[in-house]
Amino acid sequence: TDLNHIRNFSIVAHIDHGKSTLADRLLEECNTVDKREMEDQILDSMELERERGITIKARAVKLTYHADDGETYTLNLIDTPGHVDFNYEVSRSLAACEGAVLVVDASQGIEAQTLANTYLAIDAGLEVIPVVNKIDLPSARPLEVKHEIEDVIGIPAMEAPEISAKNGINIHAVLEDVVRNIPAPQGDREAPVQALIFDSQYDSYRGVIVYLRVKNGVLRPGMDIRMMATGAEYKIVEVGYLHPNGMIPADALGAGEVGYLTASIKTVADTRVGDTVTGVEDPCSEPLPGYKAVQPMVYSGVYPADGSKYGDLRDALEKLKLNDASMSYTQENSIALGFGFRCGFLGLLHMEIIMERLEREYNLDLITTAPNVVYRITKTSGETIEVYTPLNYPDPAEILQCEEPFVRASILTPPEYVGNIMELCQQRRGEYRDMTYLDEGRVELHYFMPLNEIIYDFFDALKSRTRGYGSLDYEMDGYRPSRLVKLDILLNGEIVDALSFILFADNAYARARRICEKLKENIPRQMFEIPVQAAVGGKIIARETIKALRKDVLAKCYGGDITRKKKLLEKQKEGKKRMRTFGTVSVPSEAFMAVLKMD
Ligand code: GTP
Repeated sequence: TDLNHIRNFSIVAHIDHGKSTLADRLLEECNTVDKREMEDQILDSMELERERGITIKARAVKLTYHADDGETYTLNLIDTPGHVDFNYEVSRSLAACEGAVLVVDASQGIEAQTLANTYLAIDAGLEVIPVVNKIDLPSARPLEVKHEIEDVIGIPAMEAPEISAKNGINIHAVLEDVVRNIPAPQGDREAPVQALIFDSQYDSYRGVIVYLRVKNGVLRPGMDIRMMATGAEYKIVEVGYLHPNGMIPADALGAGEVGYLTASIKTVADTRVGDTVTGVEDPCSEPLPGYKAVQPMVYSGVYPADGSKYGDLRDALEKLKLNDASMSYTQENSIALGFGFRCGFLGLLHMEIIMERLEREYNLDLITTAPNVVYRITKTSGETIEVYTPLNYPDPAEILQCEEPFVRASILTPPEYVGNIMELCQQRRGEYRDMTYLDEGRVELHYFMPLNEIIYDFFDALKSRTRGYGSLDYEMDGYRPSRLVKLDILLNGEIVDALSFILFADNAYARARRICEKLKENIPRQMFEIPVQAAVGGKIIARETIKALRKDVLAKCYGGDITRKKKLLEKQKEGKKRMRTFGTVSVPSEAFMAVLKMD
């Protein structure tokens, strides 16, 4: 295909505005998939994505479109996720495109990630073409929303297609807009190869599958390539295109095109998202500009429920990391839980999804510790350390100053909820900055907030106080001095290090009391009485007691028949499997979960 007949584009939107549904319709309209085979949300191929109804991983597919001008175009569509945790995936996808279709829900209008994702696209130099979706809804107000797009974002929107992705209305107009308004890619097939890796995935038969956008030159099977950042060299086995039903091998992948390559790459660390692939024989002089590196914001300890599965967990993390470069992990040892990892995530949703993927795709049973942000602590010795885990929290006597990360939060809401939101932000130690009326129906509030207060349940609290209309976006601001303490939990007088965590001093009492209650509820009675205590700097600030069991299980059927006895013993054994013993106390993994899910 010549470049003039290629369009590379993404779809961006706020979560739930209908990106994935529109992507399905585009696939259908281009007859990429047989109507009968068409499953809903075919791009969301991960089982987990389907269940949760959200797009986690960006996906790319090649479409063939016969346009009204009589020409046939190749459209490479890269689907992107919309949740604030996954901004990183969005910018990766955008770097492979020339344009973005901006989907806005006709009843919700512009929301926080509508703005955030549009700015990402504009910053990446993309042509943004707006589309107003869900016009089938009775509450749809397409004209108003078009005005909003023009006023708030500042791009022309009066001509934007009004569509229903769900009912397949006006999908053709979107494709025409793509062909007419998104620029064709530029690139030189004769130049040395320069291709951007925007995603990758591990396949146990073929090794790493590298998804790339070729900027210059041509990739062919048999060619020797080099990954510019890592220096690793390979011989290409296969190149091809990404079809929703799988990968379609091709003879070559040239400048302007989007596709994949395989090269029997077994070393996962050799291929980095954002790296440039070039030819060994005729290399390009410079790598393409990479992506902005992302820093995980939330850290948590991840341990196998069964200690002998440590090696399996390590392999699984290595493979997942390839598929999701925004996650990080380092080894960590806990006295209570043994060998495990300290993992870094972009946010709590990201963490939950990684945990679920590890459990499902790699068949692991995991225990996670309470998530925390990265604290900065200056010691009396003058040394400043970054604290990723409560395990490394220094002795309070050695601490000169603690600092915690703050974010600039922007919240979009209809004006009637401003009071509720201000109250919520104040409770969460937010510092008010300003408030702007974007138009009569939309206010943008700005706050400085401790990241720590946002990561737990802020998003849910915001939704419930605004009847679902409030939306949130945030970015890191920097560190500020704070009064922090480490809260330790003691079972039967011994600290369980995996239950410790760092928090704002004023919140310690209330939190300590709730944790002790939760643990009491979730730890089964044992043969002896167990004190559950919470302490700050060695001082006990809360206590509960788990009473001793009066009889053992067999006492109940003294003299009873043997099968019943056996059953009871079996049951007890089952129960034991999922227990972790701390000192003398057995704690079921559910107790950890209960503490985590507390807020
Ligand atoms: P993420 O992938 O999670 O970021 O969300 P998304 O923007 O891709 O949204 P998705 O396509 O999953 O759609 C969200 C919800 O809106 C689903 O329940 C869809 O069925 C619904 N939806 C999408 N398009 C339309 C539409 O045109 N009309 C109506 N009524 N509902 C729609």
